[in-house]
This record gives sequence, structure tokens and C-alpha cells, in this order.
Amino acid sequence: MISETIDGIVLRCIEETTCADDMQKINVIKVKYLGKNGEITSVLKSIKDATPEERPKIGKLVNDAREKVELALSKRENEIKEQIKKDKLISESLDVTLSKKRTETGGLNPLSIIKNDILDIFIGMGFEVKDGPEIEFEYYNFTALNIPKDHPSRNSSDTFYISDDLLLRTQTSAVQVHVMKTQKPPIRIVCPGKVYRPDDDATHSPMFQQIEGLVIDKRVTLSDLKSILDEFAKSFFSASTKVRFRPSHFPFTEPSVEVDLSCNKCGGAGCNLCKRTGWIELLGAGVVHPNVLIECGLDPNEYKGIAFGIGVERAAMIKFGVHDMRLLFDNDIRILKQFR
Ligand code: PHE
Repeated sequence: MISETIDGIVLRCIEETTCADDMQKINVIKVKYLGKNGEITSVLKSIKDATPEERPKIGKLVNDAREKVELALSKRENEIKEQIKKDKLISESLDVTLSKKRTETGGLNPLSIIKNDILDIFIGMGFEVKDGPEIEFEYYNFTALNIPKDHPSRNSSDTFYISDDLLLRTQTSAVQVHVMKTQKPPIRIVCPGKVYRPDDDATHSPMFQQIEGLVIDKRVTLSDLKSILDEFAKSFFSASTKVRFRPSHFPFTEPSVEVDLSCNKCGGAGCNLCKRTGWIELLGAGVVHPNVLIECGLDPNEYKGIAFGIGVERAAMIKFGVHDMRLLFDNDIRILKQFR
């Protein structure tokens, strides 16, 4: 009987479908039973040999069989697709409980830390930060600062010249000329920046940084300079740090002083850092020379000025107890890390 044959086919097909575990097998089953020459399709073809009464019955049997088989196939198809999705989710999942590798974060170079510390102290005292060009006219770096034409610092052995009148500035003092020529007093500025001189050893580098300070007002004196630098030394080193002025000479200040600080390592008793003197030389300073004021368009009878220049590398070396400046430039992470 045709109905028995068809039931057998459907049963076999459903069994095979249940066992199929991937889409490829499902497709093979589809072709095998429902394809053009598939088993169920072939039953339908036998309709032509059947009697007219039998024909609708066979048609219905085949259609029912088709429906059952299709249902079973699509159910299994969905199960397989679901499984594929689950497998994918598991294989592609992220284990968020896994501890990550430690990432190293960068940090400021110790020189930048020191520069910022120094600027912060002066900003706290009401100073404004000013910038100036690193490639400078000879006029701003030397002439306007009352440095005579035959001064040794103007020699090409002491200054990097770019042309006859252009050079890499040798001091941030050049910035004070720009500011005095363009800004009306009172002036209270600090000018940080790179400066250049052809020196290269453990305590000198062809490029280093200075912070120039300048105060111009109707009444400023050497004692104001002393109290400003006193305040700076106490904030930068420690509350017990003392400041000492020694007579010196700079063409752009009169009087000029060399400023020493009591050694912050031995407290003044004498050690290897202060070369047993108890004092460490830190900066140059003085009362702005009248010639500089006149050159910048200020009347020396009306205005007075005080100025100072701090070497950032020197301040860092003293604070960190580093004897070779090159360590601060070499970018050896093992060393730089110690100063964070
Ligand atoms: N410009 C001087 C130097 O480079 C330092 C200084 C600045 C001295 C201001 C006096 C006043 O050595």
C-alpha cells in the first residue's frame, strides 16, 4: 500500500533529521526526500499510474508527508542554528576576571617637575609667567642688557650664532627687555625657557633652562630682592633654608649678587654636596642697571628694578642630590622614575 510506503519514508526521514547535527546534513536530507528526484516527490510521480479515485488520496498523503517532514526539518534546523550561536558565544566570550598586564604610565621629566614647582612658588607671590623667543636678536640678548661689544660672553666660543645679529639666546634675561619695552610698570614676571651655551660637562649642558625673574616698580630695592628669594628658598627647599648674598658682577644689574642657600643636606654644617662650605650657590641676581631701564624706555629716576636668574638644572641637581646633569637629560627610565 502506498500509505504504508509513505509512512515508512516519513519515519526514516524524521529519524535522519533528528540525528543530523549540522546544516550540511540537513541540506542532504532535504534533497534526498523533497528534491526533484527525492523519495517523497517520487511517490507523487506515481500518481499517473493510479486510478482517478485514488489520485486525490495519494495527493493528500504526499502533501501531509511533505508537511510533517518540512516541520521536522525546520525544527531541527532552528536547533542547529541555536547551537551554532551558543558555541560562538562561548568561544568568543571575554573572561573579564582575567587580571590585565600592568601598564606603565609616563611621568614628567624631573626638570619639568622642578620648573613647575619653582613657577608655582612665584605665581603664589603674584608673579606672571612670560615667554620669549629662543632664537634671539643680539640686541635683546646682549646690547639692550648693557653688555659691551667686547664682552667675552659675546664670543662665538660662548654663544651659538645663527648670523651676525641672530643667535640662540644665552639667557632668559633677554625676555625682560621685550617685556619692559611693551608693558607698563608695575611689572612682576617670571620667564622660564631654554637657553644655549657651548659648554658640555657634568655640570654644564649646551642646552639648559633658566627662570628669569623681574620686578619693576616705583620703589623696589635690594631688600625686596632678598625677601623674595628668602621666601622662594624656604618654599622650594625647607623652612629652615637661609639665603646669603655675595657681591658679584653682571653688566645688567648694579649692584649684582650671587645668591647662596644654606645646604639642605647638612643644614649648613658642611658635607660633600656643599663641598664642606655649608652653602650652595644657586643663582645670580641684582638691581636692574639704569642703562637697561633707559634702553627700554623707562626713567631710572622714576622706576627701579630687581632681577634674578635661576638655573633649573642646577636647582634640580641640588634638590635631588644629583651630581651629573646629564643623568637628567639621558632619558633612562630607571633613573627618571626615582624623581616622581
Ligand atoms: N642672566 C644671568 C645668567 O645667565 C643671571 C641673572 C639674571 C643675573 C638676572 C642677574 C639678574 O647668568
